[in-house]
Amino acid sequence: MSGPIRLRGLEISPPLLLAPMAGLTHSALRRLILELGGIGLLSTEMLSAKRLPMENPQLSPYLVRSPQETPLSYQLLVSREEEVAPAIAKLHALGAEAIDLNLGCPAPTVRRMGAGSRLMDEPALVRALVAAARKETDLPLTAKIRLGETLDEERLQDFCRMLEGEGIDLLNVHARLRGEPFVRKPRWPWVGKVKGWVNIAVVANGGIFSVADAKNCLAQSGADGLMIGRAAAIHPWLFAELAHEVYGLGPGIGELNKPALYLRFIELLEESFLPERRLGRLKEFSHYFAKNYPFGHHLASAVQSSDNLEEAKERACAFFAKNEADVKLT
Ligand SMILES: Cc1cc2nc3c(=O)[nH]c(=O)nc-3n(C[C@H](O)[C@H](O)[C@H](O)COP(=O)(O)O)c2cc1C
Repeated sequence: MSGPIRLRGLEISPPLLLAPMAGLTHSALRRLILELGGIGLLSTEMLSAKRLPMENPQLSPYLVRSPQETPLSYQLLVSREEEVAPAIAKLHALGAEAIDLNLGCPAPTVRRMGAGSRLMDEPALVRALVAAARKETDLPLTAKIRLGETLDEERLQDFCRMLEGEGIDLLNVHARLRGEPFVRKPRWPWVGKVKGWVNIAVVANGGIFSVADAKNCLAQSGADGLMIGRAAAIHPWLFAELAHEVYGLGPGIGELNKPALYLRFIELLEESFLPERRLGRLKEFSHYFAKNYPFGHHLASAVQSSDNLEEAKERACAFFAKNEADVKLT
């Protein structure tokens, strides 16, 4: 397997990246993943370039960050050239270690703003945005893309080469077309095509939930690294497992106590966020973490219908007591 990814003084080792995910990749999940080990590069969720300059980093749940969360990439949702410089100045002030441009989000609200995957239809605008960003920062500048609207090799090749030409240092490729849902198998060989077209690092994203998936994806794509999204909330220990099993780094995972991890996540939410910001984030996380259990939908719905964090915690503990022999309810 390939070694670390080196970008302008940043070493991503192991080459395992957390995918940006709205509502999920906040300080608490990032800290949980760090405690478990194996992560090469953390990420924020997408941040609106328009709003970013006004956000208070002490109060904004999107910007809260503890000193140990490093290296941390900040993802920008940007569609107007004039928003680039103020947003990047703010990211420099926040101590960003890398900046990612969101060119792949298919959400209708994002596309209506002319942002996310909508930008893949506007290569001239993307060229201007990337050039403006490159002018403002010496930090590693990455872009996260999908494969496009339809399978069009020539178009995708031109787009990726344009990104490289304008100074993008690494491409994160979510191996699906814009309209393809998660149930569709990701097109990992297309990440390999991208890799053949450019000389910058290419990271594969989409559908990696296990060591076997990671090995298959690497075999099919030859990618320089892997970016993990939903599995980071289902199995936050997956990075440590992949680091050991795929890259021969770190001790791997010892015995896992899933209820203890869930309770640790609640603790981290309490440390990171104001009380009114905690329950929503626990609900979002529980939707994914519940997939560890055959009757996980009971956990997800019990937390979903809770009115406060204490109630959610009690209900989760009751679920674990029924579903885990080794639970310690302290
Ligand atoms: C809840 C959720 C929120 C997401 N938010 C973002 C985002 O803010 N920016 C982005 O580029 N992609 C976002 N994505 C897409 C992921 O980064 C990733 O590309 C996708 O989930 C496929 O990877 P996976 O199969 O490992 O989950 C989001 C995905 C999910 C499930």
